[in-house]
Amino acid sequence: MFNVIVRDTYDEVSSEAFKVMKEVVRKKNAVLGLATGSSPIGLYKKMIADHHSEGTSYKEIRTWNLDEYTGIPHTHDQSYYTFMHENLFNHIDIPEENTHVPCGEGDDLEQNCRDYEKSMEDVIVDIQVLGIGSDGHIAFNEPGTPFDSLTHIMDLTEQTRQDNARFFDNDIDQVPTHAITMGLASIMRARKIVLIATGANKADAVYGMIHGPITTDCPASILQAHPDVTVVLDPAAAAKL
Ligand code: GLP
Repeated sequence: MFNVIVRDTYDEVSSEAFKVMKEVVRKKNAVLGLATGSSPIGLYKKMIADHHSEGTSYKEIRTWNLDEYTGIPHTHDQSYYTFMHENLFNHIDIPEENTHVPCGEGDDLEQNCRDYEKSMEDVIVDIQVLGIGSDGHIAFNEPGTPFDSLTHIMDLTEQTRQDNARFFDNDIDQVPTHAITMGLASIMRARKIVLIATGANKADAVYGMIHGPITTDCPASILQAHPDVTVVLDPAAAAKL
């Protein structure tokens, strides 16, 4: 079930997402599902500001991230490991061992997938942060990914690599071709979801997610079957609703 909120500016969009997050992080030992991409950066800034001004502590909070590129080291400046440290973890009091980002390195990526699933085995995510790709992907679950998927390796589509080339000197050849990602079934297990989308290039995907058929052609459409999804949009992303 969707609660759709539309706000004029990115700052207001981030504030609405933060309101939902704040309810959850009040619980000392909450479990957060975190996302990368540009959409949640404003939310993370508000979490950092609140940590500093209100003293909200993350010492007993644990986090699991959605995805990571393969083929680049975790120390790469565009890895999602680096992204999470630069945009959130380094600025709050969360212990490093409480944070989990899938490992996209090594010879046996299938084993990395199994290890990541195992790390989440007894965990229920209290709130899952999501963005959405312009093709309707969530995490790195591209169109065609089965709804019952767990953590797996994904071939990235041309469109996703093109969208993300802006982080790689606008050079698609530098964008990794594969990623390790939580599956759609893993994401659907979260108690609550907050999805952030801004900009006109998300309008079709947002429409498909909310009003389209539930189909693997638009992976985000599976969220229609989730009981508690807050979708925070700007007017451009909401334009087709
Ligand atoms: C990447 C990430 C997704 C993210 C999407 C949209 O593909 N794997 O988790 O939602 O990009 O990113 P952005 O928020 O930068 O538009």
